[in-house]
Amino acid sequence: MAEIAPLSRDHDRSGFDCGVPELDSYLKATARQHGEKGISRTFVLTEGSPAILGYFTITLCEVMARSMPAKYARTYPRHALPAVRLGRLAVSRKEQGKGHGELLLTEAIRRTALIAEQAGLIGLYVDAKDDAARAFYEHFGFVSLPDKSLQLFLPIETIRSLS
Ligand SMILES: CC(C)(COP(=O)(O)OP(=O)(O)OC[C@H]1O[C@@H](n2cnc3c(N)ncnc32)[C@H](O)[C@@H]1OP(=O)(O)O)[C@@H](O)C(=O)NCCC(=O)NCCS
Repeated sequence: MAEIAPLSRDHDRSGFDCGVPELDSYLKATARQHGEKGISRTFVLTEGSPAILGYFTITLCEVMARSMPAKYARTYPRHALPAVRLGRLAVSRKEQGKGHGELLLTEAIRRTALIAEQAGLIGLYVDAKDDAARAFYEHFGFVSLPDKSLQLFLPIETIRSLS
C-alpha cells in the first residue's frame, strides 16, 4: 500500500532515478541532513518496500507581494510575507505517469494547509525546472508570477479549498 512518510535512514535512496541528476543526488546526499538541521523537510512515497518511488521537499520562505500577480499583490501589505516553498518534487522514472506525482503534490498541499493553520502563510511557491514541469503545476491550479513563467504559486485560498 502507498505510504508517504518523512525520509528516514530506513528508506532505500540508492536506486532512485527520476531522470534529473540534481534531484537524484539531493535525495541521496543532502535531504536527510537538511531535515536533521531544520533547513527543510523531505517526504517519500513507498509501496510495501524501502525503495523510494518519489519524494518532495518543503521549506519556509519569504516573498514580496509585488512579485505576485496584481490581483493578489494589491490585497497584501508591502513587506516580506510568509510562504512555503516546494523545493523539490520527483518521481522515479519507471514510476512516472501512474499518479504518484499527483499524490505527492496533494500531500505537500495538505501539509502546507496545516502550517497555514498554525502559523499563517500566503501560498505555496515552486520553481519549475522547465515548461513541462510548469504545465504539471498549472494542471493543479498553480499560477505563474508576472514575467517569470517558471516561478509559480498556489494561493492560500486554493490551498484551503483543496484541503
Ligand atoms: C513532474 C513529475 C513529478 C510528475 O509526476 P508523475 O507521477 O509522472 O505525474 P502523475 O502521473 O501524478 O500525473 C498527474 C497528472 O498530471 C498530469 N501531468 C503529468 N505531467 C504533466 C505535464 N508535464 N504537463 C501537464 N500535465 C502533466 C497528468 O496527465 C495527470 O493528469 P490526469 O490525472 O488529469 O491524467 C514527474 O514526471 C517527474 O518526477 N519528472 C522529473 C522531475 C521533475 O521534472 N520534477 C519537477 C521539478 S520542478
